[in-house]
Parts: sequence; structure tokens; C-alpha cells
Amino acid sequence: MKTVVLCNQKGGVGKSAVATLLAHHLARRGQRVLAIDLDHQGNFSRPLTLSGRVTPAAFTADALLTGVAPALPDQPFVLVPGDRALLGLERQPALHTAFARQFRSFLAAVNGAFDVCVVDTNPNPDIRLIAVLATADCVLSPIQLNQEALDGVGGLLNHERVGLRKIKAVLNPKLSLIGLLPTLVEPTPFQKANFLQVVQRYHPLMIRIGEGAGAFASIPRRSCIAEAQAGGDVLWEMKKTAARDTWREIEPGLSHIAHLLSEAIPIPSNSPTAAVRHAPAAG
Ligand SMILES: Nc1ncnc2c1ncn2[C@@H]1O[C@H](COP(=O)(O)OP(=O)(O)OP(=O)(O)O)[C@@H](O)[C@H]1O
Ligand SMILES: [Mg+2]
Repeated sequence: MKTVVLCNQKGGVGKSAVATLLAHHLARRGQRVLAIDLDHQGNFSRPLTLSGRVTPAAFTADALLTGVAPALPDQPFVLVPGDRALLGLERQPALHTAFARQFRSFLAAVNGAFDVCVVDTNPNPDIRLIAVLATADCVLSPIQLNQEALDGVGGLLNHERVGLRKIKAVLNPKLSLIGLLPTLVEPTPFQKANFLQVVQRYHPLMIRIGEGAGAFASIPRRSCIAEAQAGGDVLWEMKKTAARDTWREIEPGLSHIAHLLSEAIPIPSNSPTAAVRHAPAAG
């Protein structure tokens, strides 16, 4: 089982939407998928549950850290939903090491039952995020094309508590990065300029899906994606032509991500980032 974590400390960048699209896509490809929602907001749990495609576990994701989770349903697409109890975990620092160890043991115990585990995370850098990064195989990081988000990529790699380099060096040497995934992309001149800037600064960390200069995976801003999240619809099955067109647009990127799950790229080890060393300053 490969465990992929949707992670970016910036809120509202599309982590849960990408997690949902990816989980459905992997299940459609015939993979056995375990979906875990570590965010108490439940924005991964809700659309999956409403879709009717998942079998929910009889417990919530906090039990994976507190070590009291019973067995999962023996089904090919299982959800461990988020719950407000997740909020209490950070307030028990004496138990943090145990939480991380118990989460790791849980994933090891279900290793043979699933092909992929997709984990959605909350934007706060707390014990939930540390526990999953300490045991996951790889990270997929949705980013928005604005200045704060670009600045946030440095935090993703270098944050003192949950930066990927720190986690890799101290807790989880096998952790790797699938890449940065621009989301909510709009065809405005401002976003096009920012897209170019991301490509210039971070191209080794982006997800190449073709030969052309701009051939990187991204997710456009489309109302049908928000509607699918709100209503639990599966994008490619929605009646609207716009939804099916959007699916056709994003499917190559998601398929490539599914492929990369087996061969994620190493996290660069230089500081501040190998990717930005020779790049012009952001402006
Ligand atoms: N590609 C998209 N096009 C249009 N709307 C989108 C898209 N992706 C996400 N949204 C909408 O934007 C909002 C934020 O998305 P989402 O919940 O996925 O972000 P998030 O990074 O998970 O947020 P949080 O940090 O709060 O967990 C939601 O209302 C969602 O439906
Ligand atoms: Mg979310």
C-alpha cells in the first residue's frame, strides 16, 4: 500500500477537492483505496460519503492515533471519516509520540488490504500532520497561484515542525514528493504570470505531463468541481457537459499522479531549496 498525503499549510487551496478527485479516480482504476480524513472539517469525508461509493469505517480518524481503532470493513473503497475529536489530539503533547506510533502501526496492519491510502489533512501544522508525514510514502501539495502560496512552498519544505525536509531527516527517510499541483487555476493574465513564476522557481517539483513548456499537471477553477464537492457527485458522471469536459481536462494529470504514486521524486536536500537556487527572486 502506498500512502499519499494531501498537504499544504495554506487553507482553501483545494486539498480536499483534489483528495476526493484522486480517491475516486484510483477506485475507478480498480485500485483498493483507503481514504483517511484527518481534518475535523470533514471536507473529504462528506463528498465521499454522499457519493455512496465508499464503505465508512465504524470509527473516526482520531481512533487511528489514539490506537483504539477496530478492524476496517473488508471492502475495496473504505473511508475513515474526520471528526471534531481530532481537534483534541494536539492538546495532549505527552501522548504525541504514542499517537504517531499508533498511526504507523495501523497503516502497517492494513498494508495488505489496500493498494493506495489517500490522506487529507488540516492546514494547521499539528500532531495529525506530523503523525501522517512520519509514516507516509509521499506528499502531493496543491498550491494556488498567488504570492502567498508561492511563499508557502518554502514553508512546505522548511517549516520547523512539519517541513518535509525536517520530517524526512528526523522521522521518515522514505518520504518523497509527488509534486506541487497548481489548483483553482484561472486563465487570467495575473494567474498566467504567476504560473510562469512557479514554473521558473519550482519546475523540478512540478508534475510534468508532457513535452511542452507549460505541460505540468494543474486543476482549473471550475464551478462543477465545487458542485461535485458539495453534492458528492463523481465529476465524470455528472450530467452537465461542463463537468465531463472538466474531467477530460484533468484526467491526464490525475492518471499521471496515480502512476507517480509508485515512483515519487526525492525531496531536495539543499537549503533554502535546490529548485530556487538559480531562479530570479519572486516579485
Ligand atoms: N478546482 C476547483 N474549482 C472550483 N472550486 C474549487 C476547486 N477546488 C476546490 N474548490 C472549492 O474551493 C473551496 C476550498 O477547497 P478545498 O476545501 O478543497 O480546500 P482545502 O485546501 O481542502 O481547504 P482547507 O485548508 O480548509 O482544508 C471549496 O468550496 C471547494 O469546493
Ligand atoms: Mg480541506
